[in-house]
Amino acid sequence: MTIALYERIWMWGATGLIVMFLGAIFVTAIAQAVEPPGHLETVDPTTILSHPEFGKPQIVTNADGSVVVPIVAGMFSFTPDPIEVPANVRVTFRLTSPDVIHGFQVVGTNANAMAIPGYVTQFTATFATPGEYTIACNEYCGTLHHAMVGKLTVK
Ligand code: CUA
Repeated sequence: MTIALYERIWMWGATGLIVMFLGAIFVTAIAQAVEPPGHLETVDPTTILSHPEFGKPQIVTNADGSVVVPIVAGMFSFTPDPIEVPANVRVTFRLTSPDVIHGFQVVGTNANAMAIPGYVTQFTATFATPGEYTIACNEYCGTLHHAMVGKLTVK
């Protein structure tokens, strides 16, 4: 069987790309310890209501002005709601769920993560523009998934 030169070039090119992409995954995962934002810290989803941080989630302001926002995303609302944060400071969101997987997306920004029962998902964001933002659940979580919205106020 003969394979045309052009076909061989494309085959080797495609193989090279695959090796490069897989290599990039391994290099970043091993050398730079890149991990997903969740799965590092666990929390018992059955005792969320009496949990010191997530039982009655309170926004905490650090000495440097940055804020930590613990959030419980449960069927079919976010707690606290509305969430009020200052503009131009580091906001650390800490998310968990007492029931099923929910999404947490601050519409119009790049703040977007999953709330996973049993785990704390943590990520940071900074909001430069004051205003009211809609928080949407973007993981199908049940019959009222479409109604699971919250509000983020940036002052
Ligand atoms: Cu919660 Cu969809």
